[in-house]
Amino acid sequence: ATRRPSCLSPPCLSPPCLSPPVWGNTGIGRATALRLAGLGARVVLACRNQDKAREAVTGSTDVVYMLLDLGSFRSVRSFAESFLKAEKRLDLLINNAGLLTTDGFGIEFGVNHLGHFLLTNLLLERLQEGGGGRVVTLSSIAYRWGHIDFQVGDLNACLFFSAYCNSKLCNVLFTLHLAKRLQGSKVTCYSVHPGETSPKAQLCFHVLVLRRVVPIARLLFLDPATGAQTTLHCALQEGIEPFSGRHFSCCAVEELTPRGRDHAVAQRLWEVSEQLCGLSSTS
Ligand SMILES: NC(=O)c1ccc[n+]([C@@H]2O[C@H](COP(=O)([O-])OP(=O)(O)OC[C@H]3O[C@@H](n4cnc5c(N)ncnc54)[C@H](OP(=O)(O)O)[C@@H]3O)[C@@H](O)[C@H]2O)c1
Repeated sequence: ATRRPSCLSPPCLSPPCLSPPVWGNTGIGRATALRLAGLGARVVLACRNQDKAREAVTGSTDVVYMLLDLGSFRSVRSFAESFLKAEKRLDLLINNAGLLTTDGFGIEFGVNHLGHFLLTNLLLERLQEGGGGRVVTLSSIAYRWGHIDFQVGDLNACLFFSAYCNSKLCNVLFTLHLAKRLQGSKVTCYSVHPGETSPKAQLCFHVLVLRRVVPIARLLFLDPATGAQTTLHCALQEGIEPFSGRHFSCCAVEELTPRGRDHAVAQRLWEVSEQLCGLSSTS
């Protein structure tokens, strides 16, 4: 079920063979999926909303969907089971889903981090069976304002927006530690800041501020297809393997702030996430 896509442009990318699931029936996820499908990849959209999923796959026989609610461990496990039965090959896993709520209860931690954490772990073996799989996790520049406090069990209980920033920091630290665990295998992983896309500018508080204070800032926003470029770069660009675990923005490696490269916190986060997801620890 895989074909080798040709070249992306710009930037020009020479991709490996792909059979990727791509999270997202809208926004950057959809743009990424369509681009990959256009290049000849088989794409599995993992979506929680059947109607939106149907709409997203319309017109392409190589883009299919399977139901997945990242906010439910049961759903993640059921998706992984069905996926592993149906798809014998997995080259690329794109952890794209992200939400920002105003409820203040930190559902972002569950969906943006834990859901992806569990899913990645359940699909990792299939990725490793291939010739060099990749895991690309959508983070955000907002990780810079994130904070993880294990002492007070603050992973879930966060104020509006701080929960989003914390979850995006989790995405970065997850990638950092995953790369460590994957050393010696052919699978690599990357975290991404996609840039700001106009339809979903509400995802980022600083964007809201910009829009209110400086309306002209709207002109700086990217369309979803352009917002997908860094994800596609990390998914397809040959030669970036030595940068496994690193953070990318504008199709280039970006140096993380100290919080984003704290290996001790990354390891602790991994262990706590394993416990919360009911996965047994192996390191
Ligand atoms: N756009 C930006 O300006 C920006 C900036 C920085 C970082 N990012 C990051 O980039 C990623 C994509 O952003 P976007 O702007 O494309 O977001 P989006 O348009 O809001 O799309 C988010 C996707 O996640 C899905 N999703 C949400 N909760 C889910 C759940 N529980 N289970 C399964 N799927 C779920 C949504 O599905 P439904 O349609 O069913 O809700 C939607 O398809 C996110 O991780 C975001 O944090 C975006």
